[in-house]
Amino acid sequence: MVYSRILGTGSYLPSNVLTNAMLAERVDTSDEWIVSRTGIRARHIAHEHEKTSDLALMAARAAIDDAGIAPSEIDLIIVATTTPDMVFPSTACLLQEKLGLPGIPAFDVQAVCAGFMYALTTADCYIRGGMARKVLVVGAELMSRILDWEDRRTCVLFGDGAGAVVLGASDTPGILHAKLAADGRYKDILNTPAQIAGGKIQGMPYLNMDGPAVFKFAVKALADIAEKTLAEAGIAQSSVDWLVPHQANLRIIESTAKHLGLPMERVIVTLPEQGNTSAASIPLALDAAVRDGRIRRGQTLLLEGIGGGFAWGAVVLVF
Ligand code: ACO
Repeated sequence: MVYSRILGTGSYLPSNVLTNAMLAERVDTSDEWIVSRTGIRARHIAHEHEKTSDLALMAARAAIDDAGIAPSEIDLIIVATTTPDMVFPSTACLLQEKLGLPGIPAFDVQAVCAGFMYALTTADCYIRGGMARKVLVVGAELMSRILDWEDRRTCVLFGDGAGAVVLGASDTPGILHAKLAADGRYKDILNTPAQIAGGKIQGMPYLNMDGPAVFKFAVKALADIAEKTLAEAGIAQSSVDWLVPHQANLRIIESTAKHLGLPMERVIVTLPEQGNTSAASIPLALDAAVRDGRIRRGQTLLLEGIGGGFAWGAVVLVF
């Protein structure tokens, strides 16, 4: 039996930090409002010259180093992003060039904040199906590029960053179970509707969100999929060592933890200093907790995320 296991993790945050106080100088908001409604205190914002593939490259190199493998051992690249460098080629192809790995398959997955759940699940299927042995899975986002910096309802919530894992074939688990879901009927409560047509950008090129509707949907969908994923894997909720959630809002995270009966001491939270980095937030949180020694080999992790589409998913694994 072939399983897939995380061999290494890595992440990258741009050096430029934007605090709530700095934001309050630009829009009508306050540190108190942002912290009490979301838990966010600061976020990293990329420099103008940085592209999504640059952030992805830094995270990818760190994950490859951490896995202790040669880059040439990678036989598939999957990048989860909703803020690609360009319409095409895919950010995965651009990353492949930067890594100097011509020839291996590379593609993007677009499931917004659930992107890393979709990418990791796809990589797991490739490995278990015998089509790849070592897959580089990256979540990378420049959310700052699709925000209306005059819209206080949205610009306070997001940040830039990238996280990566190397997933490798293994005789022992690994990923125990994954579950994905989507419901396009909710496309209007969270979107960036712009498209390129006739040489022009048509429609609003900024992130648009009905915050309360998203909140309500996310809380229920995440509780449901987290519970079902564990049940289908035959893992008791009490056996989960760490919940590594998508970092959108502290109240959403607390609600999922409470539903699973997990104390917040067993939840990885990077949101206060990073904001919502969409597809990057789960691998960023994972890497932070691996680096500081909280997450250790042999522990059981539950990863979960949700975002525009709506699309959502959860993965339970032995680290
Ligand atoms: N600063 C100050 N006031 C603000 C701000 C701000 N940054 N943003 C909105 N307000 C005001 C609104 O204008 C409104 O004022 P009004 O009553 O005078 O009209 C008031 O605050 C309340 O607005 P609501 O939208 O009802 O505030 P709510 O308590 O729902 O909090 C929030 C908004 C934080 C966005 C919340 O709904 C939420 O977290 N939703 C989930 C959204 C989310 O996580 N999105 C991420 C993308 S999806 C994902 O990753 C899961």
